[in-house]
Amino acid sequence: MMNTKNHFETDAIRIQLERTNFLEHSSPLYLTSSFVFEDAEDMRASFTEEKERNIYSRFTNPNTTEFVDKICKLEEAEAGYAYATGMSAVFSTFAALLNSGDHIVSARSVFGSTHTLFTTYFPKWNIETSYFKVNEVNKIESLIQPNTKILYAETPTNPAVDILDLELLGHIAKKHKLLLVIDNCFATPYLQNPIQFGADLVIHSATKLIDGQGRVLGGVTVGRADLIREIYLFSRNTGPALSPFNAWVLSKSLETLAVRVDKHCENALKVAEFLETEKNVSLVKYPFLKSHPQYEIAKKQMKQGGNIVAFEIKGGIEAGRKFLNAIKMCSLSANLGDTRTIVTHPASTTHSKLSEEDRLEVGITDGLVRISVGLEHVEDIIADLKQALN
Ligand SMILES: Cc1ncc(COP(=O)(O)O)c(C=O)c1O
Repeated sequence: MMNTKNHFETDAIRIQLERTNFLEHSSPLYLTSSFVFEDAEDMRASFTEEKERNIYSRFTNPNTTEFVDKICKLEEAEAGYAYATGMSAVFSTFAALLNSGDHIVSARSVFGSTHTLFTTYFPKWNIETSYFKVNEVNKIESLIQPNTKILYAETPTNPAVDILDLELLGHIAKKHKLLLVIDNCFATPYLQNPIQFGADLVIHSATKLIDGQGRVLGGVTVGRADLIREIYLFSRNTGPALSPFNAWVLSKSLETLAVRVDKHCENALKVAEFLETEKNVSLVKYPFLKSHPQYEIAKKQMKQGGNIVAFEIKGGIEAGRKFLNAIKMCSLSANLGDTRTIVTHPASTTHSKLSEEDRLEVGITDGLVRISVGLEHVEDIIADLKQALN
């Protein structure tokens, strides 16, 4: 790793594995499940960790190390471990750090599978979760119990694009000696660095903007070295490691993260401004629109507003369904953070099984549409949305 203070773009490109004898310019792919030892002594010293070296790709691999080193530098973290998916990063982080009887305080607006972990699986191991709504952060302290260990949140939230104040969460976590864990997936390390505000650990689904081209799944947890050590030991034994091939793809993707995310944000702001002028739209939520309820907080902690825009279509569920059916170019897909613009209508699709009351708890109104703004020409994105709205 380089020690100098470079700009984000430079680190994202220039942190790379040492060159081999072939003097390759771009890092090669180490598609190998294991590594060999010189002799019995080398093998012994490697297993007792007297030597820092690759043993088996479930533990470490040069390509995953390069990817993790980059994310650590970009998130200002001490150490990290890379996972096969964002969800394996979320699950393994909690599972490594929590004991039976521990308690989590979390924002209610978290990714669906994370919510399922909290409600369906963790209670089996006697780990309970208490929730606060994004607009009720003043209630967080009243939820903390003597056995609370982790304070957890995502910001911006999915799909309602609400913003949580990272500085406030950092203060609360410090005051009550809790671990602050932030899923930074929607912002990427380019737009927001939760560790600057007191986060102990940061999680990413690398499947989204980090890959950015809808190709591979991946995840990563970075942060305090002592916590990552626990997480690493748990993960090397339980086996959720990122594959070397996907690590190689994701590490290459980081080389273009800054230019891609700049363009995503520029397009998203233009789409949000266009939607504000449409007569069939009653509300537009984008963190860098002045009308966003947490605009000032977004400006404080984010470099730009991200690529997700949410809006309320007039006419509720039926209007949302009609809108999706009228879309011509944009994709109807469950992913986000792709070069291709993706539109979803949570009330009639991903969240249709929830009651209206449960949907409203996480900001999903009947007419809420989420757009993951891509990298097509913005005039073509707007033209497709406009014809579908009309
Ligand atoms: C905020 C957030 N966290 C975690 C995940 C899970 O990531 P993956 O699909 O890579 O497992 C997602 C996926 O959409 C997400 O949006």
